[in-house]
Amino acid sequence: MATLELERLVKRYGTVEVIHGVDLAVPSGAFCVFVGPSGCGKSTLLRMIAGLETVSAGEIRIAGRRVNELPAARRGLAMVFQSYALYPHMTVRQNLAFGLENLGTPRAEIARRVAEAARMLRIEELLDRRPKALSGGQRQRVAIGRAVVREPAIFLFDEPLSNLDAELRVQMRIELKALHERLGNTMIYVTHDQVEAMTMADLIVVLSKGRIEQAGPPLELYHRPANLFVAGFLGSPKMNFLPVRPAEGGVRLASGDRLAMPEPALGTEAELTLGVRPEHLALAPAEAGAGLAGRVRLVEHLGAEVHLHVETGAGTLTLRTPGEWAAAAGDRVRVVIPPEACHLFGPDGRVVRSACRGPQRG
Ligand SMILES: Nc1ncnc2c1ncn2[C@@H]1O[C@H](COP(=O)(O)OP(=O)(O)OP(=O)(O)O)[C@@H](O)[C@H]1O
Ligand SMILES: [Mg+2]
Repeated sequence: MATLELERLVKRYGTVEVIHGVDLAVPSGAFCVFVGPSGCGKSTLLRMIAGLETVSAGEIRIAGRRVNELPAARRGLAMVFQSYALYPHMTVRQNLAFGLENLGTPRAEIARRVAEAARMLRIEELLDRRPKALSGGQRQRVAIGRAVVREPAIFLFDEPLSNLDAELRVQMRIELKALHERLGNTMIYVTHDQVEAMTMADLIVVLSKGRIEQAGPPLELYHRPANLFVAGFLGSPKMNFLPVRPAEGGVRLASGDRLAMPEPALGTEAELTLGVRPEHLALAPAEAGAGLAGRVRLVEHLGAEVHLHVETGAGTLTLRTPGEWAAAAGDRVRVVIPPEACHLFGPDGRVVRSACRGPQRG
């Protein structure tokens, strides 16, 4: 267990800066997930923490100690990559023991750690097999086992599940979370999958273009996104965004409808974006008085829930409703937007008013 701190961390490749001064404090024992689109700098950050990339400016501290100049092997970390190259000519047991043998760990200690990791990862019966006789998920568990036996202060994972099929990913996600609960180590986990981030993290760090957009607990980010990027990145289907302008007692939609809400203290000329999640919208019959008039364009049945895409004068809205019945394509309907579930973002993309719904405020 150890804390990890990044202070004004910068990475340049020649004259190109790819990490632009990142500040972050990860508490000891946290499951921290770096998430963001391809090329945002997740792997670069992780590799800098691991000691596989040099630091151009700023500082990395592990357990309060500066490690910028410390070689990778002496940082007390273990890293699991997406492409987990196991040694094909060695058995699982030998693969697990290899790193410790290189460090000169006593044989009895190696045997103890290998047995413990194998039990924890449920690969005991596979110890005498070679990697080619294992399934993808079993191989991935061996790769994780190689990190576990090193008993690191911090685990670093770079998209370890992206080579697995959907079902196995879900299973491994649960196993990794359980492993974290048993070990209590600090984990830094990189993914571009926002579902993985939401379900696994205690602390999510959303990155874009080499900067942190927001860091915090998953539900805090989901319910109180600091900006349009985070609002749009977390959640599936995505949050709906509509252009609005401040109006007396609320905002005016592009359709001309007024939505009553605490007035944003901005000039009436300000172009704002209203954000509302698909699960917060409700459907009303066409003859209802309330709501925004629209026509259903597309209905997606997922079994447990339905996604409706409704075209309105204010823009296209996606609704997510439980159950099977909702509406059919072509239906005229009304969409009710609950003001208390709406976020408002300013012209610069930053939130100017958060929804007052969410777990923190009931
Ligand atoms: N050796 C390098 N030289 C120059 N630029 C690099 C180098 N390595 C990475 N970059 C650039 O740094 C940026 C961040 O790359 P990085 O690999 O950290 O992204 P990522 O978030 O891990 O993306 P992905 O999800 O695709 O793995 C990218 O724009 C990439 O092109
Ligand atoms: Mg990467």
